[in-house]
Amino acid sequence: MKFFVDTADVAAIKELNDLGMVDGVTTNPSLILKSGRDIIEVTKEICDMVKGPVSAEVVATEAKAMIAEGLKLAKIAKNIAIKVPLTWDGLTACKAFASEGHKVNVTLCFSAAQALIAAKAGASFISPFVGRLDDIHMDGTDLIEDIRIIYDNYDYKTEILAASIRTVNHAIICAKIGADVITAPPSVIKAMATHPLTDKGLEQFLKDWAKTGQQIL
Ligand code: E4P
Repeated sequence: MKFFVDTADVAAIKELNDLGMVDGVTTNPSLILKSGRDIIEVTKEICDMVKGPVSAEVVATEAKAMIAEGLKLAKIAKNIAIKVPLTWDGLTACKAFASEGHKVNVTLCFSAAQALIAAKAGASFISPFVGRLDDIHMDGTDLIEDIRIIYDNYDYKTEILAASIRTVNHAIICAKIGADVITAPPSVIKAMATHPLTDKGLEQFLKDWAKTGQQIL
């Protein structure tokens, strides 16, 4: 399973990237706001650091303007994936970008029907938002399961990029279902390495080691 980091915080990406844990990055307008950085500058910095796809999102809502914005974003680096919302205009832009060989991440997906139609429009990635479905008392991971079945039925090559991953449990359920990618904030990726029994076990080992009076170095 590929791990994308869902942030525009360059330092946080670097820490995970240095450990070989970053297969790509996703950003969105809210994450750019949080970073306090200029979209072109920060996206370029991320693209220079990370080998895999870096999603940069258009903000126009009409296809022609989306295409103009997307082409500008694509010029930042070769590994840009142009991110468009799952609207009819977004799908029109997706088709245009895909036809020119650009990677496209179709975002804000909340239904299997939307995922199917995005695959038909040539999306490289579909981003179903797991956490935001949970927020409205639905099970976001059920959607990942439905999309996996549909894409496998017809051998669609669009990758399922499970987004809005808020918990370690989300990540594991998506991995069991067979999502191609998860995108999660650095905090969730780091939390995957933790377990209370690891902390408890280590504490006991250190106590017992102190009692031996020995040193390794
Ligand atoms: C994905 O591309 C989005 O940037 C992101 O996963 C949204 O997550 P949120 O619902 O926690 O804001």
